[in-house]
Parts: sequence; C-alpha cells; structure tokens
Amino acid sequence: MKAIIVCTSVSHGNTKRIADVIGEVLDARVVEPGDIDAAQLADYDLVGFGSGIYLRSYHEDLRSFIEALPEERRSKAFVFATSGFPDKGIHRFSRPLVQLLEQKGFDVVAAFSSRAWDTYFPFKPFGGIRKGRPNADDLESARTFAEVLRGSVQDSLPGTG
Ligand SMILES: Cc1cc2nc3c(=O)[nH]c(=O)nc-3n(C[C@H](O)[C@H](O)[C@H](O)COP(=O)(O)O)c2cc1C
Repeated sequence: MKAIIVCTSVSHGNTKRIADVIGEVLDARVVEPGDIDAAQLADYDLVGFGSGIYLRSYHEDLRSFIEALPEERRSKAFVFATSGFPDKGIHRFSRPLVQLLEQKGFDVVAAFSSRAWDTYFPFKPFGGIRKGRPNADDLESARTFAEVLRGSVQDSLPGTG
C-alpha cells in the first residue's frame, strides 16, 4: 500500500506531530500542500489530509489545494485535525472537508481528530487552553487510528483478499 499525507501545521506544529505518528505507521511521507504536484496524488492508494482548525474550518492552504484538484476517480482518503474543541455536533468541522474530497473523487474512509494547545485570541492571555496536548495518550490514539486504517485499506486493495 502506498500512502502520502498532505498536512498544514502552522500554529504550534500540533498537527504535524499527529501526522508524523500516522505517517510512521503507514510508511507515508508527510508533505505540505505546496510541496506536491496535484497529479502525483494518483500514485497513491491512500491520501491523508490534515491541519489545525481555524474558525471551525481546516486551514485555508489545505482547502485551496483540494479545491484546485480536478474532479476524477481517485484513491481512498482520510482526514485528521487538531483543535481546541472536539469535532462533534451539527457543526462538525470535518464534514465540509469530507464532502469536498468526495466531490473531487476520493473515497473518504476515516477521520481522526485530537485536542491540542489552542492559543486563539480569547484564550491567549491565559496561555491558551489544552496546553501540553497532543500528549503521549493523544499520539497513542493517533497510532491506533493509523494501525486500524492500514489494516482496513490493505484488506480492500485488489489482490490482497
Ligand atoms: C486564529 C485561531 C483560530 C482557531 N479556531 C479554532 C476553532 O474554531 N475551533 C477549535 O477547536 N480550535 C481553534 N483553534 C485552535 C487550533 O485549531 C489548534 O491550536 C491547532 O492544534 C493548531 O494546529 P497547528 O499547530 O497544527 O497549526 C484556533 C487557533 C487559532 C490560532
């Protein structure tokens, strides 16, 4: 299985730490959107997309990269994020990104999110919230997520059943 991870992590490197753990399990390179030519994505069986959450959305650099992709039949994909608050309720921040990826032709098979140090301005004077995260437990959860994902994608590839 060939996998790659496209990650934008600009605030504290929180998402990159998660990406590195997932990348280790999947034996996947972690690249920034500007470091990969969109056409190269066709070389992979699985593509991960991740960033921190900004005003309830994935980072604009990541979204613009995906928005610019032509619509065609594509590989499996997964999304991941770090954020101060959980990805739940009717305003799930992963939902619009999953829809965009599906529109571009990806089969989105999994989503992961972790709490992380958040210094958005209302919290900044107090040093932010969730300081110290992602912590060892969060990184372990990311590892478990990636192991399960690796198993399910490998099983679904042609010639592996
Ligand atoms: C300007 C700004 C806006 C943010 N908006 C949100 C938000 O809407 N929801 C949330 O849960 N976290 C929010 N956060 C927290 C970030 O998602 C969190 O710190 C994330 O881990 C940053 O990832 P990075 O270090 O990989 O860039 C915000 C942080 C900043 C600085």
